Amino acid sequence: MKGRFICGTGSAVPENCLTNHDLTLMVDTSDEWITTRTGIKNRYIAKDETTVALAAKAAGKALENSGINPEELGFLIAATFTPDNFTPSVASMVQRELGLNHLPIAAFDINAACSGFVYALTVACGMFHTLPGCKYGLVIGAEVVSRVLDYNDRTTCILFGDGAGAVVVGRREGLFASFLGSKGDVEILCAKIADGGKLSFKPLTMKGREVYQFAVEVIPESVNNVLNQAGLSLQDIKYVVCHQANERIISAAEGKLGAQPGQFVRNIERYGNTSAASIPILLDELNREGRLNPGDRVILVGFGGGLTWGSILFEW
Ligand code: UT7
Repeated sequence: MKGRFICGTGSAVPENCLTNHDLTLMVDTSDEWITTRTGIKNRYIAKDETTVALAAKAAGKALENSGINPEELGFLIAATFTPDNFTPSVASMVQRELGLNHLPIAAFDINAACSGFVYALTVACGMFHTLPGCKYGLVIGAEVVSRVLDYNDRTTCILFGDGAGAVVVGRREGLFASFLGSKGDVEILCAKIADGGKLSFKPLTMKGREVYQFAVEVIPESVNNVLNQAGLSLQDIKYVVCHQANERIISAAEGKLGAQPGQFVRNIERYGNTSAASIPILLDELNREGRLNPGDRVILVGFGGGLTWGSILFEW
């Protein structure tokens, strides 16, 4: 395990699967429209599951997969824009769910919407410097997006799903590059506190076409940014694990970069857009399918509300 950056992965989704056909009974849409415009067939929607419950399940699996002693954890970071509470954080509640209350570890949440996992993983790298004795940390992306959706709005409700993915990170050795950005835009907007301090809730709205164009622009930019930092080209990369928002976005970015077939991986068909959870869920699938070998170079690319975006390049 020595020197490995990602030492273990795990993921969890709710039990309840919502198909495109199910959605046709709720809003004016069709399986054909959803499939051709987004690539999504199914998504999992929480009934009783909370963000903390999904996060803790994914984190527990990642710990098991890593084989590390949980007592060696120094921090726990959860990326989410759909926490169960303003406070305590999802991370603190996962600490409790995992029975790690007795450990004086750092626990906090990060909100960079769908880019959250890439942000959290970058921050995690810094934690090893600020906490010198720290050996391992947990980084989670967890969302119950269904709680902030309007199921009368066909432009958003067909896109998103719930879930969580987690990784155990270790003090890394070797190749690493990262890049984070934000535009300060409101193209994706959800739940705000109104003037006068009164709390009001607004379901998620999104300017789909604008976000689509933004994504197709920033994915290749982010990938090239970390490649340039590392002095590598795309041929040196085994997988690009891109945020799963729309099959057409992934294909367009893949085309712009001239990627080889299979380099850009996907699972959007089965989960929809799970926001900060999409990248670690996909990473967990690659890991459990035995598709990652020591030394493989991987790029993670996120984009989403904020508008935020970012990428990380590392060796498996
Ligand atoms: O993770 C956060 C980042 N988010 C994203 O990356 C999302 C980026 N955007 C997208 O993925 C796409 O823009 C969408 C999937 C959201 C929409 O696809 P689009 O090809 O951009 O469709 P559109 O918004 O241009 O709408 C085309 C038509 C419209 O009808 P008219 O005006 O042409 O008559 C919509 O009203 O499709 C209609 N439409 C639908 N029809 C059936 C919109 N939603 C639906 C629907 N079913 N669910």
